[in-house]
Amino acid sequence: MSIDTSQLAEDLIRRVEGAEDLRSLDDIRVEALGKKGRITAEMKQLGQLDAEARKAAGQALNQVKEQVAGAIERRKRDLETAALDAQLAAEAVDVSLPSRPERAGKLHPISQTIDEIVAILGQMGFEVAEGPDIEDDYKNFTALNIPPEHPARQMHDTFYLADEAGGVDMTTVLRTHTSPVQVRTMESREPPIRVIAPGRTYRSDSDMTHTPMFHQVEALVIDKVTHFGHLKGCLQDFCSAYFEVEDVPLRFRPSYFPFTEPSAEVDIGCSRKDGELRIGAGDDWLEILGCGMVHPKVLAMSGIDPDEYQGFAFGMGIERIAMLKYGIPDLRTFFDADLRWLDHYGFAPMEVPTLIRGLS
Ligand code: FA5
Ligand code: MG
Repeated sequence: MSIDTSQLAEDLIRRVEGAEDLRSLDDIRVEALGKKGRITAEMKQLGQLDAEARKAAGQALNQVKEQVAGAIERRKRDLETAALDAQLAAEAVDVSLPSRPERAGKLHPISQTIDEIVAILGQMGFEVAEGPDIEDDYKNFTALNIPPEHPARQMHDTFYLADEAGGVDMTTVLRTHTSPVQVRTMESREPPIRVIAPGRTYRSDSDMTHTPMFHQVEALVIDKVTHFGHLKGCLQDFCSAYFEVEDVPLRFRPSYFPFTEPSAEVDIGCSRKDGELRIGAGDDWLEILGCGMVHPKVLAMSGIDPDEYQGFAFGMGIERIAMLKYGIPDLRTFFDADLRWLDHYGFAPMEVPTLIRGLS
């Protein structure tokens, strides 16, 4: 028996080089080198040869095997490159095409209002501070001089978190106001302090003017000569800029908060005639915020000497002032996630509010 190894090699390599795709190349590989393949079959014949011839034929067959394997490797690489080139060509992006007619996104009035507030108070020298939505009971209540028996601490007003045993963890709350950011700021900074903290707040509350989740912006100023006149001036300037009405009538109504002394709630003068709300005219009033001089006990608990420093703070409802400025009648609609509502009340995303260009 004799094997024409050069004929076999030539035949197999020709077929390898002619393979049109990776799948047929693999079929050829199995046919040539597989357990039942042609080279293996020839190898099996070797036993019938005498020792001398077996050695020569064995070497020759091994050579064929290597040549064929090498050819398969090369062809495989070529085919892979070609496949990748084809894929790249098919998936090419024409960057000169116009964009698809997608629905343009709008900025939610809450985001817009926060941007406006930050633009106005930022120009007055306030920095933005932050705190977490999940707050500890100490910063939300205790450090703000809110005593254990205070009604705000009741479970029907405040959302507490579950503990591991499935009960109620009375030490962790969804913050009920942004005032704990006052505590965080006083604990971590030295006066003078001038910060604002916009963010989400949570209360077990739901009707036309209350939702379980709403937004507030807190402001805190601490310095050696801060007094109530600064608070009034700051709020007057803020409201004039925000509502774009000169001399907005503001009413400081004496009130009570455990963490400020004296305390006031601030109402804005407006008229509500024929279902239309107008700011700065008429004889009606609307509450927008709570404020006051920071209580000396609150300063002391957070490590600030009340004999050396005083400060003022306010906490404003963001939905409320957005409703007033943009004529949105029902607070609950803010969180209905209705795209028609957002289309109507939303803002163009690139319209960044500045004092110079007008805020809305
Ligand atoms: C407070 O939350 C105080 N932390 C404010 C404060 C800060 C006083 C600093 C003194 C110094 P009050 O509970 O009144 O106060 O809420 C403040 C404002 O948040 C309200 O005037 C109102 O505009 C808004 N607000 C309160 N509850 C809701 C609610 N459920 N939904 C929407 N807005 C609300
Ligand atoms: Mg109030």
